[in-house]
Amino acid sequence: MIEAFRQRYGSADGLRIFRAPGRVNLIGEHTDYNLGFVLPVALDLATYVARAPAQDGVLRMHSEDRRETAEWPVSGIARLSPRRHWTDYPIGVAQELIRAGFPVAPANLLIRSTVPEGSGLSSSAALEVSTALALLDGRPMPPLELARLCQRAERNFVGMPCGIMDQYISVFGEEHAAVCIDCRSLKHQVVRLPDGVAFVAVNTMVKHELASSAYKERTEQCAAAVEVVRRRHPRVESLRDVTPGMFEEAEPDMPPPIARRARHVVTEDARVIEFVAACREGRVERMGELFEASHRSLQHDYEVSCDELDFLVDTALGVAGVYGARMTGGGFGGCMVALLRPDAAPSFAREVTRLYKERFDIRPAIYPCRPSWGAREEKNFESIPPGGQLDG
Ligand code: GLA
Repeated sequence: MIEAFRQRYGSADGLRIFRAPGRVNLIGEHTDYNLGFVLPVALDLATYVARAPAQDGVLRMHSEDRRETAEWPVSGIARLSPRRHWTDYPIGVAQELIRAGFPVAPANLLIRSTVPEGSGLSSSAALEVSTALALLDGRPMPPLELARLCQRAERNFVGMPCGIMDQYISVFGEEHAAVCIDCRSLKHQVVRLPDGVAFVAVNTMVKHELASSAYKERTEQCAAAVEVVRRRHPRVESLRDVTPGMFEEAEPDMPPPIARRARHVVTEDARVIEFVAACREGRVERMGELFEASHRSLQHDYEVSCDELDFLVDTALGVAGVYGARMTGGGFGGCMVALLRPDAAPSFAREVTRLYKERFDIRPAIYPCRPSWGAREEKNFESIPPGGQLDG
């Protein structure tokens, strides 16, 4: 990456490289903005941002994936508006940094990523967090503040009303473990994964248009459900506070779609807690059942799945050695994640690829999920993947 940087910008003096991972969420979908629980793992797929000071008053960035360069005088960054372009993520981060009292210095950035875009593996959070570290350039920021700042960039500038999960796990990822985040207290527990299981993500390779408008609509529907519960329980602030009993009591007063959304969130929070316990006790069959229950709830109650995801889940569940499968991430495309016996992984990949291709005429990309460390400066340049590498 140093050579690529030098070729592009002429010099690599003062170069530093920062890395932030993508993630796969094991369970706890659409619970983060309801202040509930999620259980993601940070992946070894990551975004790398190389930076060196620039002398001409400009912030310049080149994305190897997009083969595009963009630049702005640093003096004008605080006043930029979103362009519905990939640069909205780094510029949103730059604006939040300025707002938080960290001026952005003139710099050249080179961005390389192995997180496939639009896959539901959180390429945006990986870009936000790695850019934030590159623009901070070693100035210290508490990790939780870093995650929250990147979430604000996405909410305020990009305009996506996301929860905290993706940025949090990109910052706090752990090698060999999942991280159970309490999205209210913003504290987490490290959850070791039992021996004898592997997780594999399978990319539908589709991203339906609906994704971002439906996401916003779901957040509004959850707020509407909270309002109904509050008629009886005024202390309730989010669906996180709603017990199954409270939900049953309020359900008849909710329009049916609102009731379904609320039921998903209330039952999904319970599934995360049970999944963590099953994980700690090595009860892999139960973990698999909870995966499937989570998917059905997202499919029928939250209604954020799609034909491609449902097909992948149903197919995976029919393969020998698979304990469970579910969609992961926001939905409407992106990835499915399967929990399976490690020795079943090769035949699983073959079967799923063959059947998905037969049905949709698309070759799905398959990623073994290797839990990895959260964001930090990458000092081991040897470990950085070469440029121009394809993601699937
Ligand atoms: C997206 C959002 C997250 C979370 C998931 C669904 O990835 O960025 O905050 O809401 O969808 O669980």
